[in-house]
Amino acid sequence: MKSLVIRGGRPLRGTVSVPGDKSISHRAALLGAIADGETRITGFLRGEDCLSTLRCLGELGVAIEDDGEEIVVHGRGSEGLDAPKVPLDVGNAGTLMRLLAGLVAAYPIQATLDGDSSIRRRPMDRIAIPLRTMGAEVSGQGERCLPPISVQGGDLQPITYRSPVASAQVKSCVLLAGLRSEGVTRVIEPGPSRDHTERMLAGFGARIEQRGLTCELTGPAELVGRSVRVPGDISSAAFHVVAGTVVEGSSITVEGVGVNPTRTGLLDILEEMGALVTRGPVSQADAEPVADLRCATSALRGIGIGGDLIPRAIDEIPIAALAACRAEAATVIRDAAELRVKESDRIATTACLLAAFGARVEAHEDGMTIHPGPLRPAEVESEGDHRIAMTGVIAGLAAEGESRVRDTACIDTSFPGFVEGLRTLGADVEEVTE
Ligand code: S3P
Repeated sequence: MKSLVIRGGRPLRGTVSVPGDKSISHRAALLGAIADGETRITGFLRGEDCLSTLRCLGELGVAIEDDGEEIVVHGRGSEGLDAPKVPLDVGNAGTLMRLLAGLVAAYPIQATLDGDSSIRRRPMDRIAIPLRTMGAEVSGQGERCLPPISVQGGDLQPITYRSPVASAQVKSCVLLAGLRSEGVTRVIEPGPSRDHTERMLAGFGARIEQRGLTCELTGPAELVGRSVRVPGDISSAAFHVVAGTVVEGSSITVEGVGVNPTRTGLLDILEEMGALVTRGPVSQADAEPVADLRCATSALRGIGIGGDLIPRAIDEIPIAALAACRAEAATVIRDAAELRVKESDRIATTACLLAAFGARVEAHEDGMTIHPGPLRPAEVESEGDHRIAMTGVIAGLAAEGESRVRDTACIDTSFPGFVEGLRTLGADVEEVTE
C-alpha cells in the first residue's frame, strides 16, 4: 500500500499549475464520441477517472488516439454507439457512471455499468427514475439501484424533470439521454449545480438554453466535433489554495484554473473567512472562464456555510473544513447531506480525519461544526477517497512535525502530480510503500 509521509511546518512558496478539469474532461470525451467528425482535446485529465471514460468509450466502438499531448476522439455521429460486449467498468468514477448511463440510454443498445467497491455503494436511483420515465429500462441492486446497473436504451421521450437534488450528474444524465429525442427535454434543479454540460453542448451545436435553475434542450441534436481546451481543475487547485492560506509563511500562485461561477464556491468561502485569495484577469478556454489564483497565509474568521454555496463547493467541503480549523471561531456547515454519498461518506471521513489532527468536529446529518484549534501531526487513513487523502496531506503540511496519510494511490483518480506540485512549492512529502 502507498502512503505519504509529510514533514509539516515549512512555508510553501511559488507558482504551480494543476491538471485538467475532471468534469470537463469527461464531458469532452463523451460528447466527442457521439458527435460527427473529430474532437481534439488538449489539457485532458489523465487521471484514473477520465482514463476510465476513454476505455468505456472504446468498448462502445469509439476510436480514440492519444499522442501524449492531444486526445483525438473519432465521433461516431450517425453510426451511433455499438452494444458493448463486456460490462463497462467506470472504476471509481461516479460522474462517468451517471453520464454514461444517460448517453447509453439514448441509443438502442444494452450495457451493464459497474465499478469499484466505492461505486457499488453509490445510489443510482437518482438517474434510474428519470431515465425510466423517458422510456429506458434501468435495473440495479436493491432499493437504491446500486451498481452494477443495466441500461437498455432506445426510443426515449423528452421529459420535464424536477430533480430533487442539485446534481450536475443527474442533470447531465437526463440531457444526454434526451439528445436523440424529438422535442424539449427540460431539467429544473433546486440549486445551482455546475453547468459544464450545457456550455459544452452549446459549443458542439446543440440547441440548449439556460434560464435560472431551468435548462432546456431541444432534440434531436446534431453534434459536430470540435477542439476543446480543458482548463486547470479548480477542485485540485483548492488544495494548493487552502495550503497557501493555512500553512504559516506561504504565498502561492496557481496558474490557469477554471473559474466557472458554478464551481467557485470555495473561493467565496475563503473570501468570507477573510483569506488573502485573489483571481488574476479572466480569459476564456472555449466556453469556460480561466484565471490564475493567488493566496497567502491569512488570519481567518469562522463562518456559516450552507444553501446555494454548497453545490458550488461540493467537492471542496473537506478542504474548506480544514481551513476552518485555523479560524478564530467555529464554522458551521449545513445543507450538505450530499456529502454522505460521495466516494466516501465525507461528513464522517472529514470529521474523523480532522479529529485525528486535533480539531474538535461535531458531525451533523447534513454537515458539521468545526471548532478551531492548533493542528498536531497525525497518522490517518484515506478511506480510499482521493479528496480525503489530499486533505490529510495539507493538514500534515500545516501541522509542525511528521504526519502520515495511508492508502494514497487513490489521489491519481483526480490529481496525478499532486505530490510533485507540492514539492515544487517547498513541501517535504515522501512516498513510501508499506
Ligand atoms: C460532478 C458533479 C458533482 C461532483 C462530482 C463531479 C460532475 O456531483 O461532486 O465530483 O462532473 O458532474 P453531483 O452531481 O452528484 O453533485
